[in-house]
Amino acid sequence: MTKIIAIHSYRGGTGKSNLTANVATMVAQAGNGNRVAIVDTDLPSPGIHVLFGLNEDQMKNNLNGYLWRKYPIEKAALDVSHIMNKKAANSAMYLVPSSIKVSDISRILREGFDFEFMLEGFKNLTKSLKLDYLFIDTHPGLNQETLVSLTISDMVLYIMRPDSQDFQGTAVTVDVARKLQVPKIRIVINKALKEYNFAQLAQEVESNYKIRVAGIIEQSDEVMRLASKGIFAARYPDNQISKVIQGIARQVMT
Ligand SMILES: Nc1ncnc2c1ncn2[C@@H]1O[C@H](COP(=O)(O)OP(=O)(O)OP(=O)(O)O)[C@@H](O)[C@H]1O
Ligand SMILES: [Mg+2]
Repeated sequence: MTKIIAIHSYRGGTGKSNLTANVATMVAQAGNGNRVAIVDTDLPSPGIHVLFGLNEDQMKNNLNGYLWRKYPIEKAALDVSHIMNKKAANSAMYLVPSSIKVSDISRILREGFDFEFMLEGFKNLTKSLKLDYLFIDTHPGLNQETLVSLTISDMVLYIMRPDSQDFQGTAVTVDVARKLQVPKIRIVINKALKEYNFAQLAQEVESNYKIRVAGIIEQSDEVMRLASKGIFAARYPDNQISKVIQGIARQVMT
C-alpha cells in the first residue's frame, strides 16, 4: 500500500516546499529501498522543483499537461534520485512538477481543473512507479485542490510558524482535516527562534490543538543561505535541523 502524505499550511511561506523535499528525501534514503514521489499541486505558484535544481526546459512535461489530458501522469515524473546523499539499492525518488510558464499558470487560474482527474492521476502514479510514499506539496490556505487531496491522504503535516496569525489559521485547517477524517494529523513548527523553550512551545501547541507536534525546526541562517538551492538534510546530515527532519521522516514511516 502506498502511503499518501499531504503537507499543508494556512498561510504562505511557512516552509512547506522545503519540508516536503527534505522529508521525502530522508524517507527515500532510509535504507530500505523506499520508492518516493512528490507532486507539486501548487499550480498557481509552483516552487519545489527549485530545490531539485530543475529548470523550465527539464519540466516540459508537468502536472498541467496531465490535467489537460495531453499524456499520462507518469510521463511528467522526473527521476530526481541524484539528490540523495546515500542511495540504497532499489530506492528511487521522483518529482511531478507544475508548469512555471506564465500562460500555463494563467490558464489554470482562468479555467480551473478537474479535481477528480487529479486524484485519478495520483492513483495511476502510485501504480506505475510502484510507490511506497506519495508526498503532496500544496498551495497555502483552504482551497478545493487541498481539500480533495486531504480526502485521500493517510497523513497530513501542518506547518506553522510561532506567529499569532499562523496559530489562528492552523486551528481552522486542522479542523477541516479532522472533519475529513485524515487518519494521522501532525503539526510541524518551523522558523522557531532559538531563544524559545521548544519543549514548552510543543506542549502549548499540543494542548491547544490536541494534535501531536512532529518536530520543531529553528529559524536558521544556514537554511536561508541555501536559499532553496538544495536539500538541506542531504547536504548537512549532521546539523541539528537535519536531525529534526529525520525524526519527522521516521514518523511518516511508522
Ligand atoms: N527553518 C527555516 N529557517 C530559515 N528560513 C527558512 C526555514 N524554512 C524555510 N525557510 C525559507 O522560507 C522561505 C519559504 O520556504 P518554502 O518555499 O519552503 O515555503 P512554502 O510554505 O512552500 O511557501 P509557499 O506558501 O509560497 O509555497 C524560503 O526562502 C526558505 O528558504
Ligand atoms: Mg511551496
